[in-house]
Amino acid sequence: MKLGFIGTGVISEACIRGLFASELTIEQVCVSRRSHALSAKLAVDFSNVQVLDDNQMIIDQSDVIVLAVRPQIAEEVLAGLQIPLNKVVISLIATLTHTTLQQWFGQDVNLCRAIPLPFVAQRLGVTAIYPRQQTAETLFNAIGTVITAETEDEFDRYAVASATMGIYFESLATLSEWMTNEGTPQESAQRYFAALFKGLNHTALNHTEQPFADQVPEHCTPGGLNEQAVNIFTQQGGKDALIAALDSLKARLQGAK
Ligand SMILES: NC(=O)c1ccc[n+]([C@@H]2O[C@H](COP(=O)([O-])OP(=O)(O)OC[C@H]3O[C@@H](n4cnc5c(N)ncnc54)[C@H](OP(=O)(O)O)[C@@H]3O)[C@@H](O)[C@H]2O)c1
Repeated sequence: MKLGFIGTGVISEACIRGLFASELTIEQVCVSRRSHALSAKLAVDFSNVQVLDDNQMIIDQSDVIVLAVRPQIAEEVLAGLQIPLNKVVISLIATLTHTTLQQWFGQDVNLCRAIPLPFVAQRLGVTAIYPRQQTAETLFNAIGTVITAETEDEFDRYAVASATMGIYFESLATLSEWMTNEGTPQESAQRYFAALFKGLNHTALNHTEQPFADQVPEHCTPGGLNEQAVNIFTQQGGKDALIAALDSLKARLQGAK
């Protein structure tokens, strides 16, 4: 398989490192020179990474083209590129719909959207794709698991869900900073919370059939400290803030259509 990445940033690097660590045979990866330090490092680390200046050349030399530039500059970068229908295009670009991308290309392309997350580098990803696309499933299954959305609205809900990574670290930061302010060394607080959430995540992954809401009381002794924490979190608007964040992301994605 010959892959080409237009945009060699954070998420392209994660995908490329994950793919080279996977069982797939990747014959060649073409990347754009932009983010020169990163593309140069990839070419040093992997002998079959080729750095090219011209995005059309990346397309011409690849069977699968991954679009990974930021949405703000995407039209400028992509409009006018010629992509034959026999090539697979996987767009990672947030908020840009099939309709918009097809309009920019001015021709039909074999297009699939995907949301790989940074830990695809460790092949631990969970990548939502839409629509079903055999090549995309093969690639992203090699670097984690794939969830195939049946509709664009469903795909957007995974986009909303994937945008909770910052909330996760904001929560960890808030929790560990409280301990640090009380006198615990920062490193100890961070190690504690990282391990606590790792254990909880393990439990959650092993019980995906059980509603999370039912797992709350299982982790809260009646009248105990965990129950008290949940009550304060809910009463002080913690739950409302999470829902407001998700609703606002949904509105932004709908507004982009
Ligand atoms: N990061 C994530 O977790 C994640 C997850 C899923 C999807 N995405 C999506 O993936 C896309 C990339 O995200 P990112 O986090 O990887 O961003 P990023 O690190 O900023 O990477 C964007 C890359 O595009 C390059 N670029 C700019 N203009 C270009 C051009 N004319 N031709 C070729 N390359 C050009 C930039 O190079 P310069 O540095 O030289 O400008 C940079 O290497 C975004 O649309 C984002 O929504 C990101």
